Amino acid sequence: MAISDRAEAERRIDWLVAELKRHDILYYLRDRPELSDAAYDRLRRELEEVEARWPDLVRADSPTQRVGAPIGGASFAPVEHRVPMLSLDNAMSEAELRAFDERVRRLLDTTAPVEYVGELKLDGAAVELIYEAGRLEVGSTRGDGRVGEDVTANLRAVLTIPERLAAGQPPALASIRGEVVIPLQAFARLNRLREARGEEPFVNPRNAAAGSLRQREEVDLERLRSLEFRAYAIAEGLPAEAATQADALACLREWGFAVSDAARVCRDVDDALAFHAAALATRDRLPIEVDGTVFKLNRFDQQRDVGTLPRSPRWAIAFKFPPQQEHTVVEAIEVNVGRTGALTPVAKLRPVFVGGVTVSNASLHNQDEVERKDVRVGDTVVVQRAGDVIPQVVRVVPALRPQGAKPWRMPSRCPVCRAEAVRLEGEAVTRCPNLDCPAQLANNVRHFASRGALDIEGLGEKLVEQLVAQGLVKRVSDVFRLDAETLTGLDRMGAKSAANRIAALERARQTTLARFLIALGIRHVGAGVAELLADHYAGDLDALMNAPREEIEAIPGVGPTIAESLVRSFADPRNRREIEELRALGVRWPKGERRVAREGPLLGKTFVLTGTLPGLGRDEAKRRIEDAGGKVTASVSKKTSYVVAGADPGSKLAKAEELGVAVLDQAGLEALLGD
Ligand code: IVH
Repeated sequence: MAISDRAEAERRIDWLVAELKRHDILYYLRDRPELSDAAYDRLRRELEEVEARWPDLVRADSPTQRVGAPIGGASFAPVEHRVPMLSLDNAMSEAELRAFDERVRRLLDTTAPVEYVGELKLDGAAVELIYEAGRLEVGSTRGDGRVGEDVTANLRAVLTIPERLAAGQPPALASIRGEVVIPLQAFARLNRLREARGEEPFVNPRNAAAGSLRQREEVDLERLRSLEFRAYAIAEGLPAEAATQADALACLREWGFAVSDAARVCRDVDDALAFHAAALATRDRLPIEVDGTVFKLNRFDQQRDVGTLPRSPRWAIAFKFPPQQEHTVVEAIEVNVGRTGALTPVAKLRPVFVGGVTVSNASLHNQDEVERKDVRVGDTVVVQRAGDVIPQVVRVVPALRPQGAKPWRMPSRCPVCRAEAVRLEGEAVTRCPNLDCPAQLANNVRHFASRGALDIEGLGEKLVEQLVAQGLVKRVSDVFRLDAETLTGLDRMGAKSAANRIAALERARQTTLARFLIALGIRHVGAGVAELLADHYAGDLDALMNAPREEIEAIPGVGPTIAESLVRSFADPRNRREIEELRALGVRWPKGERRVAREGPLLGKTFVLTGTLPGLGRDEAKRRIEDAGGKVTASVSKKTSYVVAGADPGSKLAKAEELGVAVLDQAGLEALLGD
């Protein structure tokens, strides 16, 4: 039923925003969704409807509002912290913690025990959140402690950061301090994704959290959604009745923040040591990386008496956990060829038990890393489990180096296909440039067929792996040599699905130059660059292939790294041959091709077409949607705005109904297009 009353609309919006956020947390952070996708979408659509009717009631934190980094500018805007963000002094041993306690009591001029609050030291990125009249206004990184960076837009996407304080009478200004962390599971997932994309993995969860907050372009929303915030201090806006750190933590909880569950009051230094020992014992079972404990004098009046040094308070200390390190011997250094062609040296270690697991391999990352640490076969090394589970070689023990051990060199050829390995200027990674290298082939074929590239429907992971394993695809172009008969012989492939695959291949042959360039998987050539190039050369691939480096470099938006990568790739006779093959096999695109309009009534909407559209045709429909600013994609997801169903629609219609995506017929589409 439509809402006619403004106050009721406001209440409904508040409820819907809170409810959607709660379900986002269950879905993204807890892996425990309570709603089906369709039910979630119904809530979301209701919110969109109420907001459309009452546009001035749209809340800044509404999930319908786009989130992203600040647009433009070379860097994040600086934010001066009104109260400096200090760091903590460290204690590394029981003796050092006792010395801290004695200093505190000397400064307080007391021999009686003093109370501390014990907290976990979370290993993430420190941030400050400024709430004015209970609303989140500015969020910033710690920076140098005095001036940080404005990352408000990204922080608004972190689900455990409330947009409003849950306080009846919020203070005029509150400064909340805490740590943004990435749970270990999300960290592992993110690194797997980065490796699959040929990007450097993050070395630890701290860097991953900080890096996520500082995303500027093409902000990855899922990544921000996987972050969590834990509050540990109120630097300004503390309620008058709060006299202790324990009160402050209780107040933070009341205001709607997540506060570490482990925190508790310790009655004296012995109790603090017990807290530390208990935390250390649970270290490996915690879902987030914790690198120690923090002890803070509980009473604020005592904190004031003890005072603060320029860099750190005298009333608090971090008691670090011992690093999880062991010694072992490097038995060999092997080179792995990743699915993206990266050649990674890996130390084969005499198995050693460290931080709860047996480690027998450790990545040495790249040639520079091996040289910097000077790791040689036969060396005794210190290994540590950093962050999650990625074992690292920390350093060599030079005294234990066997005589005659030789410095390690990266091989000049790919150990799998023997192609000459290349290392682009300014890059740390050495790569096998051969698109058909067996180590890379399956990955390349999948990329080639993926949605952003040639968009070959039905050529999924399982099928590609079979095709490569059975030698049916030895080069990327071989997919266009497949016929229905060959496919029918494969696992779980009936005549009908084989025919569908062949039809999909036929459709994919007609593409755009931008898609074709993406499909080639040239380093540094992603969607944005491919569009620029296709536009610049108006669909003329030969002109691009024969262009000198200076010409490519001069295209706005294309830098020297990209130009170098393109020129190298097109200089490789294997790649040129492969491109010729693809053209000979019927892959084609229009010259003078068009781009999706940057404006129009359908901007931001995604469409999926299914079935035949009499009198319009799919290509024509696609072109008109794109002219109106919309996007056409191949498969239906929660994010699809509309499914356009013609005659004899396929399974996409059922999928749309299942997900609650709006379905249009041809007339409906034409109405949206404005004719
Ligand atoms: S209190 C003046 N409490 O450790 C108090 N810090 O070196 C300063 N950290 O920059 C911070 N967990 O990023 C505090 N429970 C906790 C913490 C914590 C992690 C980080 C924080 C800070 C660094 C101090």
